[in-house]
Amino acid sequence: MTIHDRSALAATADVADAIAFRLNGANVALGDAPDSRLSEVLRASLGATGTKVGCDAGDCGACTVLIDEAQACACLVPIGQIAGRDVLTVEGLAETAIGAALQQAFQVHGAAQCGICTPGMLMAAYDLLRRTPQPSEQETLDALGGVLCRCTGYLKIVDAVRDAHRFIGHGTATSPSDGPAIGSRLARLDGAPKVAGSERYGADSAPDDALWLRAIRCPHPRARFTLGDLEAFVAARPGLVRVFTAQDVPGENSFGIYPHLKDQPVFSGGETRYRGECVLAVVGEKEAVESLSIDAFPIAWEPLPAMIGSAAALADGAFTLHDFVPDNVLTRGRVERGDVEAGFAQAAHVAYGAFETGFVEHAYIEPEAGYAKRIGDTIEIFACTQAPYMDRDEVARVLGLPLESVRILPSACGGGFGGKLDVSLQPMLAVAAWVLDRPVRCIFSRIESMISSTKRHPSSIQAKAACDAEGRLVAYAMEGDFDTGAYASWGPTVAGRVPVHATGPYKVPHVRNLSRAIYTNGPPSGAFRGFGVPQAALAQESLFDDLATAAGLDRLEFRLINAIRAGDTTPSGQRLEASAGLAECLEALKPHWQRLLADAAAFNASEGRTRRGVGIGCMWYGIGNTGMSNPSTMRVTLSQDGRLTFWNGAVDIGQGSTTVLTQIAADALGLPVERFDLVLGDTALTFDAGKTSASRQTFVSGRAAEAAAAALRAEILRLTNAGPSARLTLEGVTVTVAENGVVARIDLTALPAQADGTVLEGIGSFDPPTVPLDAMGQGVPYATYGFAAQIASLDVDLDLGTIRLNRIVAAHDVGRAINPMLVEGQIHGGIAQGIGLALMEEYLPGRTENLHDYLIPTAGDVPPIDIILVEDPEPLGPSGAKGIGEPALVPTAPAILGAIRHATGVTPRQVPVLPHRLWELLRAKEGRS
Ligand code: FES
Ligand code: FES
Repeated sequence: MTIHDRSALAATADVADAIAFRLNGANVALGDAPDSRLSEVLRASLGATGTKVGCDAGDCGACTVLIDEAQACACLVPIGQIAGRDVLTVEGLAETAIGAALQQAFQVHGAAQCGICTPGMLMAAYDLLRRTPQPSEQETLDALGGVLCRCTGYLKIVDAVRDAHRFIGHGTATSPSDGPAIGSRLARLDGAPKVAGSERYGADSAPDDALWLRAIRCPHPRARFTLGDLEAFVAARPGLVRVFTAQDVPGENSFGIYPHLKDQPVFSGGETRYRGECVLAVVGEKEAVESLSIDAFPIAWEPLPAMIGSAAALADGAFTLHDFVPDNVLTRGRVERGDVEAGFAQAAHVAYGAFETGFVEHAYIEPEAGYAKRIGDTIEIFACTQAPYMDRDEVARVLGLPLESVRILPSACGGGFGGKLDVSLQPMLAVAAWVLDRPVRCIFSRIESMISSTKRHPSSIQAKAACDAEGRLVAYAMEGDFDTGAYASWGPTVAGRVPVHATGPYKVPHVRNLSRAIYTNGPPSGAFRGFGVPQAALAQESLFDDLATAAGLDRLEFRLINAIRAGDTTPSGQRLEASAGLAECLEALKPHWQRLLADAAAFNASEGRTRRGVGIGCMWYGIGNTGMSNPSTMRVTLSQDGRLTFWNGAVDIGQGSTTVLTQIAADALGLPVERFDLVLGDTALTFDAGKTSASRQTFVSGRAAEAAAAALRAEILRLTNAGPSARLTLEGVTVTVAENGVVARIDLTALPAQADGTVLEGIGSFDPPTVPLDAMGQGVPYATYGFAAQIASLDVDLDLGTIRLNRIVAAHDVGRAINPMLVEGQIHGGIAQGIGLALMEEYLPGRTENLHDYLIPTAGDVPPIDIILVEDPEPLGPSGAKGIGEPALVPTAPAILGAIRHATGVTPRQVPVLPHRLWELLRAKEGRS
């Protein structure tokens, strides 16, 4: 029971057992149980959904509020403890001078990306600024240390907090409107609700009459199970409505990314293949579903022997996980060019190595959440996703419906990084809502999110590299096994992308790169920022350090000598026509490299247990799908009432596509950004923009947006007989076209209108030109590539094996930075995830399934980052732009591993380089020396 009485506490005094407190200055009284979590009460009973829940365990800080002006995690506070106290949440911030200034500073600095951590960050920052109006960097880091952000790398958040005092009393943030939109540091167009706490994520919205769904998942890596009397179980528990199993799926009980690989069941059919696999779902009233004891559930498990890791699945006598793949090898990838044996035979220097990486968890702060609602013969799904059209297709298959009967309404997405490319709760929700003809909602717990979702592929890579006496690369060969877990997910994509990239952004005449995706009883490995390229880059960059040393060359110079450039041919036989900016990146890094090397030499001149090292890592990354069509279509319209609307189906998961694509459309049309109304990612309203993955939205959807806006502009110019240089303005229902002193006007009300009021429209599509790879991996896998080089400086404690990062310098060729502030934010965030990959993150099923045991970088773990943007325009891209999402991450871990070696003389070949692993390497080196 909830009683809202915002007039006076006294007014609630006659309510027995009510708990009264002040929320954002207003009096409230609640009949919720005293042990209810404050976070839950705020969200569910008071509708204050600005306070987010990422873990319910005090680990993420997303639920940070102020209680009597002190920071607290609302998920850890029972409301019985707040009687008579003052609670301030993000919804109350704008009423305070400091809070409003913080919100504005976050917008101006680009400090919110996906925005799911933003309310918690703002509250922690508010607490700091109340006490310390102009905090130092260290004071800011300390204050924000309890709030996790997976997107930003924290640096822009720290900048915003430290700069907030400038915005006190200065109204709301405004965006620049003069001059070209492209190239401007425009604040996010979708930023205001993120800083206000009013953004609607998957858990923030559902019909009032929605039932709740809870999945029951396998606790073993492999098991058979038998179900008891489910009807009797439900009947005995008031509030439960129904249990759904494999038998209840109206269409096909399967899903998967590839049309021929729908290998994952919605509900397991009798034998599970990984810990976390969904067996059935219970639906009912919230309390009844949540209070269920899983131990009481009528299900009997028979654990079975499991194959853990690729080696087990490839061993002689290994059982077959899926009948259609007897040897457990899901797919193979190959790129072969030249004569690799001849190349090695003629080499002056050869380097070898075997490298290991583990599962890495996406750890988006927003667990999966959403609802499904049946409307007659159609179904609507509101949920967090990176791929609404793929979700639509999957749900239609599962329900046995035509595509047009399924509508996907993406919620705001609280981080994805590839992990929300696969469907998660959508099929379950759809089945339940369809069968019951009642809305059904679900919110995964943190643990459920982690055990059920896809991971970065663990890899075992053996590689060999060779160069001539002058340091020119002559041959490279690698064999990589990628543990794709129990189901295919994006395994074929990883196996296909790795061999293309495995040689790195270098000229190598003789190449043989082989990959395999292996089925195991691990969690499904899927898409995670880089699709296997970060793992391959670790091996390749490490061996190139070996070769540089053997050839007596500086490591940066070695890379510069071998850098691939426009006009060169890749190992896939693709001639790079333009926009290959690695050499420019390396040239730009040179002074930083020399300075940091000198700094390390000076530091290491004194004795001590701390040694300083500097490393360099390079990367290239194909933008878009590998050798296959991945089109996008955009629409821009003018309506009779003067509304200019951008119909944009690309999902913004925090990377900024909503803003960037509008900037592109604005300049192509010739009207300012702020004139656009936005309709975003609704499968019933927007065209298919493809998925938000493979760093493709700026390049692919950007070209489509440019074409759509240009088509609308052409129509306007045609109607007025104006030339291409004409200047447009839109006032009310009149478009004015001015050119060389001649002014023409279009009265929009006088034009014939479509049913929705549209009078003029432009539709644009783009599909990057590629050529599928042949059996030897030859073709044109990508229309363009991003390039980058990063330097890491760090200190190693030789006694403890611990590492402290000092600085990272990142040079990225992005073609053209449509919005430099958002590009920088992507680079910061990618580097933070690269730090996690290199030094911290290891998902171990059954052991690190929460944010307490699975550590991601905090604000204190990310060092200062210097960014150099190299703009080598891509002729195919919108205004020359390429992509940045994944390129930002790839070079970081190689640079860190190179720096560890430079500092210590030991070569880590397994990540993460946890202190105990480095300690063992250091002790082994001591034993050898
Ligand atoms: S939700 Fe409270 S700390 Fe994570
Ligand atoms: S912006 Fe911080 S988690 Fe996404």
